Amino acid sequence: MATIDRYVVIGNPIDHSKSPQIHAMFAAQTGQSLLYERCAAPLGAFADATRALIAAGVRGANVTVPFKLDAFALSTMVSDRARAAGAVNTLLFSEGEISGDNTDGVGLVTDIICNAQTGLQGKRILLLGAGGAARGAVLPLLEQQPSQLVIANRSIGKAVELVHKFSADHTLIATPFTELEGGFDIIINATAASLSESLPPIRRTVFLPGSLAYDMMYAATPTIFLRFAAQHGATTRDGLGMLVEQAAEAFFLWRGVRPQTEIVLKRLRAAL
Ligand code: ATR
Repeated sequence: MATIDRYVVIGNPIDHSKSPQIHAMFAAQTGQSLLYERCAAPLGAFADATRALIAAGVRGANVTVPFKLDAFALSTMVSDRARAAGAVNTLLFSEGEISGDNTDGVGLVTDIICNAQTGLQGKRILLLGAGGAARGAVLPLLEQQPSQLVIANRSIGKAVELVHKFSADHTLIATPFTELEGGFDIIINATAASLSESLPPIRRTVFLPGSLAYDMMYAATPTIFLRFAAQHGATTRDGLGMLVEQAAEAFFLWRGVRPQTEIVLKRLRAAL
């Protein structure tokens, strides 16, 4: 009997996840026959929950908060970008291996370059935050050869540690918010500040006319960071496109087919 290929998104909580919707649209569009479901793993039980899914024949998984580090630890093989991020958001189960990848950073970069039509090569980029979200973005951003990538974080030690992880590349600099100087072409908010309706402590001078301000968060209305950036002349973009693009990269890893993202992004936006 033919069985349908199954995939899941694992998180806790997981009810809010838009991934099943996104992957269903990708599957319909590309004619791929698959089932994609939500899986709420109990806190502290990610490995057991994942092994049970593998035993049940599930082919792959997306991993979201709070399990991306557990997924990295459980992987028997990891991609360079997952190693650089220290976190895994996409798992592929095949021939006894658990392959871990991280598509978040490439999702961000694809959204900026392809959807926002903003090149990164030679640009001065400011990355706000040094937590998991920022860490995943550093390697994919550096691969685009910006002239400078400055990481600013409240706890400066975390930003310095992150910079040290990426060799002695002089393009990459850690700085406290208070010492940020000059304007940037692209300003990416990878802090969790928007979640609590607060702003990272940046001066308005980081924005230049025509800068792109990007918030990894998204909501039905612009985040506090994007409202502040718009007031100071920046073009703004939220993280909904990053969500869709990271999913498209995962879909490609699993199925070998690249879905069209534009229509999916439009539909999600309309439903926010
Ligand atoms: P995530 O996985 O979403 O990145 P995280 O690893 O907990 O979550 O990191 C949260 C990031 O948001 C950190 O860079 C944090 O700064 P600190 O390292 O100094 O704690 C940052 N952050 C959270 N709230 C913030 C706020 N109100 N202003 C500035 N930075 C904030």
